[in-house]
Amino acid sequence: MIEIQKLTKQADNKLILRGVDLSIKKGETVAILGPNGAGKSTLLKVLAALIKPTSGMVKVNGLDLKKNQTEIKKILGYLPHSSLLYDHYSPLENLVFYGNVYGVQEVEKKAVELVKDVGLSFFLNEPVKNFSRGMIQRIAIARAIIHDPEILLLDEPHTGLDQGAITILNKAILSMKEKGATTLMVTHDFKQAAEICDRIIIVKNGKLVDDFHISDQALSIVAQKYELQVEGAS
Ligand SMILES: Nc1ncnc2c1ncn2[C@@H]1O[C@H](COP(=O)(O)OP(=O)(O)OP(=O)(O)O)[C@@H](O)[C@H]1O
Ligand SMILES: [Mg+2]
Repeated sequence: MIEIQKLTKQADNKLILRGVDLSIKKGETVAILGPNGAGKSTLLKVLAALIKPTSGMVKVNGLDLKKNQTEIKKILGYLPHSSLLYDHYSPLENLVFYGNVYGVQEVEKKAVELVKDVGLSFFLNEPVKNFSRGMIQRIAIARAIIHDPEILLLDEPHTGLDQGAITILNKAILSMKEKGATTLMVTHDFKQAAEICDRIIIVKNGKLVDDFHISDQALSIVAQKYELQVEGAS
């Protein structure tokens, strides 16, 4: 459960988030759409407790983000634009490192399983500096979920992935949903949003301009609403 009220974020005299109110229930899979520079990544960074909001309130599972950062961070899995991987480490070393940060049990076994799940077993011990963009993204996804987070914050997770990896990622999100996890996913990919999300939020100029539920992978509805809110009136 995520509760956001009157959230603002100002940086360099620019108001990036201008009063966001949003409530997300446990188990929801929510896509955040919006044009470049709308404030989507900033919103995710605030939720991931990486940057402080200027004003407003954020609660996660009833806990205030201002006061309970450490506790909240434990239940979050955050996949940013950048991979957060250590270049000279292999996938196994990276995952074991992050797993240990979160106190994951049988961390090496879990890391090996995850590398297998993302289809890179063959490269288990190769330094990630030699990896292609899509391979790095696959390992970055494994890193974000190594501690079975209750809440997944994904910033353009499908970027750079081939069809096989998209299927792997979508299955991972859906299987975490089955276990009760909540996902917030920033994306420019309407098709992926419609396929795996049950709710769509559109952000423009630091504000929520639309918020609706979708069913039956209603891609055309997403495109229509986006056009109306973003491409239409400006
Ligand atoms: N630390 C910062 N200092 C100043 N301005 C910032 C900072 N971080 C973000 N911004 C500005 O805030 C706005 C929103 O940025 P943000 O990265 O949240 O956009 P976005 O919606 O994720 O865009 P994209 O789709 O391109 O990833 C941009 O205009 C950006 O330049
Ligand atoms: Mg962004």
